[in-house]
Amino acid sequence: MKTKSLYIHTIGCQMNVYDAEKMAAGLQALHYLPAASAEEADLILLNTCAIREKAEQKVFSYLGRLAPLKSRNPRLIVAVGGCVAQQEGRRILGRMPHVDLVFGTHAIGRLPALVDKIERERCRLVDVAMTAGFMETDPGTATVIPGGVTRFVTIMQGCDNYCTYCVVPYVRGREASRAPERIVAEIEALVAAGVREVTLLGQNVNSYGLKEGLCSFGELLARVDAVPGLARIRFTTSHPKDLSEPLIQAFGRLPKLCNHIHLPVQSGADRVLKKMNRRYTRAEYLDKVQRLRQIRPDIAITSDFIVGFPGETAADFDQTLDLIRQVDFDGVFAFMYSDRPTAPAARFADKVPTAEKKRRLQALLALQDLNSSRKNQSLIGTVQRILVDGAAQKPGDGPLEDCPPGPQWVGRTTTNRIVHFSAADDPAGLAPIYPGLLLDVRIENAFAHSLRGSPLECQAPAAGAKGEQSHAA
Ligand code: SAH
Ligand code: SF4
Ligand code: F3S
Repeated sequence: MKTKSLYIHTIGCQMNVYDAEKMAAGLQALHYLPAASAEEADLILLNTCAIREKAEQKVFSYLGRLAPLKSRNPRLIVAVGGCVAQQEGRRILGRMPHVDLVFGTHAIGRLPALVDKIERERCRLVDVAMTAGFMETDPGTATVIPGGVTRFVTIMQGCDNYCTYCVVPYVRGREASRAPERIVAEIEALVAAGVREVTLLGQNVNSYGLKEGLCSFGELLARVDAVPGLARIRFTTSHPKDLSEPLIQAFGRLPKLCNHIHLPVQSGADRVLKKMNRRYTRAEYLDKVQRLRQIRPDIAITSDFIVGFPGETAADFDQTLDLIRQVDFDGVFAFMYSDRPTAPAARFADKVPTAEKKRRLQALLALQDLNSSRKNQSLIGTVQRILVDGAAQKPGDGPLEDCPPGPQWVGRTTTNRIVHFSAADDPAGLAPIYPGLLLDVRIENAFAHSLRGSPLECQAPAAGAKGEQSHAA
């Protein structure tokens, strides 16, 4: 059978990155292998995101650019998946005559059958049906596409939280947790393919398994921790309202659990948190941060913020800046509030003007850049264990002329800080550097978004290797 080529372009969050791997794995059965570029592909999949207006605009401009490819090659199949596909459904076919298939977030397992039908009948199809329960995309055992040392594994789909600004519950459906055996089997398959670190994914991992009566998230973490050969575990996202004491305790117990938690707070003002339907107060958030730091004093804490939520006053925003100072985050993502037509906040009064949203965003990021730089500077001279990701695409945010000669590499600390180094830094020039290596580096320089170091020694991963026993960053 002739092989065909597939090009996937992914916009959006880690869930979409994971889903793209499942799409590629499923399409292998139809003999699709990766294409180097969209121009060479027989099938182009656009995996879309609806979280903010800009993300949605990106989808339509990318699709627009594909039209000439389709007129040059009428056999080309153009498919749109992900959250915009789920939201817009058939409307995409009306707006984009060169699109053959629109498949929603619950249709990934059906993708091979849909593509097969289009190949045979040259028809245009829409599948945005949503189903209850976790949708497995694999027929039985886990099919994994090899590659990389760190990978995502979805443990839950959907969201039941209905934050008033958010489109996710509408485009991903109700929350559903995946069976722990399937999660562990997939991680074992990934480890067999060379993966050393996994990030467990869900919109609210803290409520894992509750609805279905599966094990708790803490118990799941313990089962993942026991997978031989896996070095590190991360998870995202953790909703502050459900961050439970047993989960906090897991940070004290599990050696492979990284020294980092992403705990999106969104705002520092109770008034805004209430209108967002976040269901925690500023004081409750601060309490949880304190508990985490009692259990792991050097845990890195990162967060998400929305600035300019409808009705957010200058005083509310000041409370957000104040919270940033008080918590002393290791890093943040911040976004200007964006109306999502299906989410209730789109109809809230007192919209903040764009210019003011921009001003608040810049003020927040400037404050955090100072925090991040100061925290990174304090690491100069320390030794950090990193997991080597691979060759560096960029030399980091330090000046180029400061980079010592030799191949450039990049890895991450357990606190999720990016560390660049040159292989030539290795004084003895002994052990070869390779992706997946746990390597101790001395930090020599620090910037707002990355560190630069030089290797001390290499620790080859033995079969059945344990995680890093030390909790130190
Ligand atoms: N489930 C995660 C968030 C997923 S969306 C949680 O509860 O934290 C990722 C981030 O996008 C959110 O944390 C929020 O900061 C941002 N976001 C979501 N909807 C948005 C909107 N309408 N406008 C601007 N930012 C938004
Ligand atoms: Fe959206 Fe809130 Fe669910 Fe996160 S918890 S995905 S912000 S609705
Ligand atoms: Fe975007 Fe969908 Fe993720 S809206 S952020 S791709 S869940």
